[in-house]
Parts: sequence; structure tokens; C-alpha cells
Amino acid sequence: MVPYILVGVFVFVVVNLLLALSTTYSPIPYFPTQSSDLRLIVKSLNLSKNDILFDLGSGDGKILLSAARLTPMKKGVGVEIHPFLVTLSNIRAFWQGASQVHTELKSIFKTNLDEATVIYLYVGNKMMPSILEYISKTPHPKLVRLVSYMYDFSDNTPLTKKFKKTVLQGKNKVFVLEKD
Ligand SMILES: C[S@@+](CC[C@H](N)C(=O)[O-])C[C@H]1O[C@@H](n2cnc3c(N)ncnc32)[C@H](O)[C@@H]1O
Repeated sequence: MVPYILVGVFVFVVVNLLLALSTTYSPIPYFPTQSSDLRLIVKSLNLSKNDILFDLGSGDGKILLSAARLTPMKKGVGVEIHPFLVTLSNIRAFWQGASQVHTELKSIFKTNLDEATVIYLYVGNKMMPSILEYISKTPHPKLVRLVSYMYDFSDNTPLTKKFKKTVLQGKNKVFVLEKD
């Protein structure tokens, strides 16, 4: 009986990972941020004990959990459309004892950004314009910083014009928009 259960769990995990890597749920599939750039990204998030970090399209929670481990922050909120990845990141947060981190099963485009002070994005060129437009049209009264891994922010949007851009170089580029 036990081997059958183990095989069932293994097949379930593999099928769900394959679905996450495909475009079944979204045109932007799951690719975790590269480990070699994690420290640079956490540094660029520049979090302090009052910050609330949103990772829009949070995957398995890698960034939120690294931030919880390496730097102070009040809260980390993951927003993810794939149910398996939401469960995985919440299990990982529980396992790590990161009680300030949780992930919600939700579309980026239905996310309330009222409490976000910092937003992290690793979403690809295709989705970046629509996400910037969504953030721009959604109240974000406390937002002071946006960080994007690999993909540049367009300079000519009402949102990006309000922030100052810097670019950091790790293995890949990290784009930071900061309120003046
Ligand atoms: C490239 S991965 C980045 C994962 C994570 N942020 C990281 O850096 O390790 C992009 C993630 O966005 C999720 N995603 C794509 N479209 C989404 C949407 N509309 N709402 C919520 N999540 C979405 C995908 O399922 C995928 O896990």
C-alpha cells in the first residue's frame, strides 16, 4: 500500500511541476529567480522592519523566504496563480518558521496593493507593460520601491516617471525603481 501512495504523491508532484513550467495557467510560466542573484536582489529590495513586500507572481516563494531569512521586514505577501505553487510556498514558509510570509492564490490583476511598500517582479517582457498599467491604476499609497529581475521597466509610463531608476549587475540585471 505504502509504495502505491508514494508513487501517487511523486506523480502528483511531477505533473504539477510540469503544469507550472507550461503556459497552462498563464503566458508566464514558473521559473525561480536564479540562486546566484538572490543576495543582490534581497539587498536591492532594501527592506526594513516596517516594510511589506509583495512578490507578484511569487512561484515557490523563493524571494519572500530569502528576504525573511536575510533581512528584517514586517510582512511578505506572495501572489500566485498556480495552486500547487501556492501550497508549496505556504508549506515552505511554515517549515522555515517564517510566520510573516504567506502566499495567496490570486491573479496579479486582482491584487489589492494598499499595504505594499515594496514590489518584486520576475515576470518577463510580455507581461511587464500590463502589470505596470495595473499598478498605476490601482491605489498603492505606500509604495516606495519596485524591483524587477532581468526585465527592464518601460521609462514612459505614468508610474515609472514618478520613480528614479538604477540598474544593478549580478549574473543578470536587477532594475530598481525608487521614489525620490
Ligand atoms: C518567472 S516566475 C517567478 C517566480 C518567483 N517570483 C521567483 O522570482 O522565483 C513567474 C510566476 O508568475 C506566476 N504568474 C503568472 N501569471 C500570473 C498571474 N496573472 N497572477 C499570479 N501569478 C502569475 C507564474 O505561475 C510563475 O510562478
